[in-house]
Amino acid sequence: MSKEVNIDWGNLGFSYIKTDFRYISMWKDGKWDDGKLVEDNMISISEASTCLHYGQECFEGLKAYRTKEGKIQLFRVDKNAERMNTSAEKLLMPEVPKEKFIDACMQVVKANEHYVPPYGTGATLYLRPFLIGVGDNIGVKPAPEYLFGVFCIPVGPYFKGGMAPCNFNVADYDRAAPRGTGGYKVGGNYASSLNSHKMAADAGFADCIYLDPATNTKIDEVGAANFFGITKNDEFVTPVSPSILPSITKYSLMQIAKDYLKMPVYEREVFIDKLDEFKEAGACGTAAVITPIGGIEYKGKFHVFYDEKEVGPVTKELYRILCGIQVGDVEAPEGWIFEV
Ligand code: PLP
Ligand code: COI
Repeated sequence: MSKEVNIDWGNLGFSYIKTDFRYISMWKDGKWDDGKLVEDNMISISEASTCLHYGQECFEGLKAYRTKEGKIQLFRVDKNAERMNTSAEKLLMPEVPKEKFIDACMQVVKANEHYVPPYGTGATLYLRPFLIGVGDNIGVKPAPEYLFGVFCIPVGPYFKGGMAPCNFNVADYDRAAPRGTGGYKVGGNYASSLNSHKMAADAGFADCIYLDPATNTKIDEVGAANFFGITKNDEFVTPVSPSILPSITKYSLMQIAKDYLKMPVYEREVFIDKLDEFKEAGACGTAAVITPIGGIEYKGKFHVFYDEKEVGPVTKELYRILCGIQVGDVEAPEGWIFEV
């Protein structure tokens, strides 16, 4: 490591820490500049930027991992680049070329190498790429200029306790509309989740489950993570819906369940009043990794899956393989690992 930093790696949560360098690139007159690393974590933009008023912004989240040998690797960064461009297209923002996105992430990790937590601490370096509409504008229309940035933060577990079961309730409000932006990683979805998250936290839950906004009968998301369940017949099931963010972790787990654990895998509707079909359930995402779901409260009833305190065996095995791949202990499918 190039430089020592005074961080208690084992006790990190999911909070902002200012690291040394971040990447910034500007789009103007139809093209991107070369981009550069800067030390200042403040950005100066027009008061009339579309990202401030009309939510013209999207973002990504991925992690850098330290291997046993001390090397650093990114997990499926190409998929984050693709997904950000899907969000950008939806909000009429310019494409960030995949090579530029990957190069920006690599530069940020290299420049902040000393913040990549050591192997075995459970902590990782979280990268936050973002794309925002900036420049002088007041009408409801796409911005004249754009800023693409990437910063990084060493993080521990997103949900308290890490790989310990968490309980969830069901939100009273939807995070996105039917035929809206639920399937894209755009700020508006998160703004509309703040209130439901607070209500869940105030009631003692880790977060809330969002039902499909069209019928309110099927599971869409688990806070800022996707849902999966293991049926009594040992099938891996995850919901299908146009308003779910297509989680890279979820698609990775589907492949792990199929190829490593030889389980049948289904993407299908998951009805909130049919939770009995599952013997285990979990939330999955970059920040959440795999968070086992202890139980879900719905309409005054509390449904427990495997156990409120203990993690089920299939969930444990999925976690072992996913995290093993991410830190280089388990052989990865081709193309999943990008060495920094
Ligand atoms: N769902 C939502 C709403 C999210 O914000 C995230 C986080 O990115 C996920 C699911 C999980 O997606 P991924 O596994 O790509 O991080
Ligand atoms: C992620 O898992 O990367 C997320 O975006 C979740 C959340 C912190 C917004």
